[in-house]
Amino acid sequence: MRKKLVVGNWKMHGSRAANAALLSALKEAGPWSADVAVCVPFPYLAETALALTGQAILLGAQDCSAHEQGAFTGEVSSLMLSDLGCRYVIVGHSERRAFHHESDQLVADKAKAALAHGVTPIVCVGETLAEREAGQTELVVKRQLAAVIHTLTHCIGEIVLAYEPVWAIGTGLTASPEQAQAVHAVLRMQLHAATQKSASMRILYGGSVKPDNAAQLFAQPDIDGGLIGGAALKAADFAVICRAAM
Ligand code: G3H
Repeated sequence: MRKKLVVGNWKMHGSRAANAALLSALKEAGPWSADVAVCVPFPYLAETALALTGQAILLGAQDCSAHEQGAFTGEVSSLMLSDLGCRYVIVGHSERRAFHHESDQLVADKAKAALAHGVTPIVCVGETLAEREAGQTELVVKRQLAAVIHTLTHCIGEIVLAYEPVWAIGTGLTASPEQAQAVHAVLRMQLHAATQKSASMRILYGGSVKPDNAAQLFAQPDIDGGLIGGAALKAADFAVICRAAM
């Protein structure tokens, strides 16, 4: 039995005042039976770590460098994230793949760097609308996951995987529970071929998860929680989504 995980990805939103209000509302709204995490922008990690002291809500970041340290201006290492108390880091989000031209291999290298410092990578995969319409969904997500499997080899069982169809992110278009489950099943089969831990690995769904569709998505056999964008910025909505993950 896999414990569900709900992760709020704040993306590039927030301010010290807004974050304090959101975190305090979330603390009031919990606890939940699922694991819950928030992935906040780098400048707010330290303050959020303090605000979450003694709380069940876990801390995460939204990206990390593939390098450990050195002359990499503007980069943040997973060693630093670990130092700040991060449990998770999102890697390979489609916004980074698209806007920062991150390759499958770079994403895999970032996942490897995160694991090396005890930070669990939440590895995102997902197809664009054009790819789905061309019947390439399976091909694309399997290619993206294959790079990670190849790079992590025996550590692949330690990651969290997130299926995020690009066409569903921030658009209000959600994959139907059946569409999402079909892709999750393909991904779990691919993991099964790579590790004995596949049955205990969590595969999250992301893409316009809202209070009114979360329960149906999370009820699917291979959907183990969600990666939540817009709805994670409203404490009341995020709380309902966390409650839907039983
Ligand atoms: O990381 C989160 C995903 O990009 C989903 O974002 O819930 O706003 O569609 P969204």
